[in-house]
Amino acid sequence: MSGTDEFPRRTVLAAAAITSAAYAVGSARAQTAAPRSNGKVALVTGSSRGIGAATARRLARDGYAVTVNCEKNRDLAAGVVRDIEAAGGRAIWLQADVSDPSAVRRLFEANERAFGGVDIVVSNAGIMRLSPFRDMTDADFARMVDVNQKGSFFVLREAARRVRDGGRIIALSSSITQLRSPTYGAYAATKAAQELFANILAKELAGRMISVNAIAPGLVNTTLFTDGKTSQQIAGFAERTPHKRLGEPTDIADVIAALCAGDGAWINGQTVFANGGIV
Ligand SMILES: NC(=O)c1ccc[n+]([C@@H]2O[C@H](COP(=O)([O-])OP(=O)(O)OC[C@H]3O[C@@H](n4cnc5c(N)ncnc54)[C@H](OP(=O)(O)O)[C@@H]3O)[C@@H](O)[C@H]2O)c1
Repeated sequence: MSGTDEFPRRTVLAAAAITSAAYAVGSARAQTAAPRSNGKVALVTGSSRGIGAATARRLARDGYAVTVNCEKNRDLAAGVVRDIEAAGGRAIWLQADVSDPSAVRRLFEANERAFGGVDIVVSNAGIMRLSPFRDMTDADFARMVDVNQKGSFFVLREAARRVRDGGRIIALSSSITQLRSPTYGAYAATKAAQELFANILAKELAGRMISVNAIAPGLVNTTLFTDGKTSQQIAGFAERTPHKRLGEPTDIADVIAALCAGDGAWINGQTVFANGGIV
């Protein structure tokens, strides 16, 4: 089921339902332990699983109220929210296809209704379709551009309009922009766009103490990377890294959390390569 088709009615209903559930859990818990809160709000696109889910959980642990987003996997998104609430945090989830600009706008509006504003935006939703140039289909190429390049632009545009002074905006690039391996051409181009987006948006937001960066993971143990590869191929990739392992989603979430922390403010307009040294 497409988030775009379903968004207007179902998502807003889901937001309302989950929002009130989040508040109910918060107030019930208040009798035993105060819920953690730094009063700030994070929105992470594509956070039903993988790097986005690890980032949502980590930012919630750091005290942010978090808006979780998925395209299709509503159960997984709801599970991330449940985990955050169980750990004492506040979260909502919303189904919204980032390739639809009106869905992205409604995602930010729902976040504002739930939490009053946004301080951190992580433009993480992404897909990868690999093929040599000669065999890349029109449909695969178009969908990667729609989700990774146009979708992230729509998210960053809303972030530029809405993130509060002192906030952070982070876009997910990839170390493939340096590795430049065969079959990755179309995907790598959509990821390189994130590095330009971050650098130029950082300059546009001058004077507001908002830092904007791209983060470029290497090989991370999610289905985006492992699908279509044999266990021997995956072990071979792990062997090529200095630490002799793939990155885990939490490795990337930790770096994103560091950029979001007060001490990370001076890193601005940069691409941070978080890849365990593979490049
Ligand atoms: N894994 C790596 O090795 C690696 C390396 C470098 C960079 N990255 C980048 O890191 C980001 C996250 O990758 P990942 O490995 O965590 O991927 P993943 O495990 O495949 O998760 C992708 C996430 O994006 C969501 N998503 C996909 N299309 C969407 C859309 N149109 N609208 C909204 N959400 C959408 C998915 O939602 P559903 O669950 O609903 O499908 C899911 O939550 C991507 O931008 C990727 O390019 C990954």
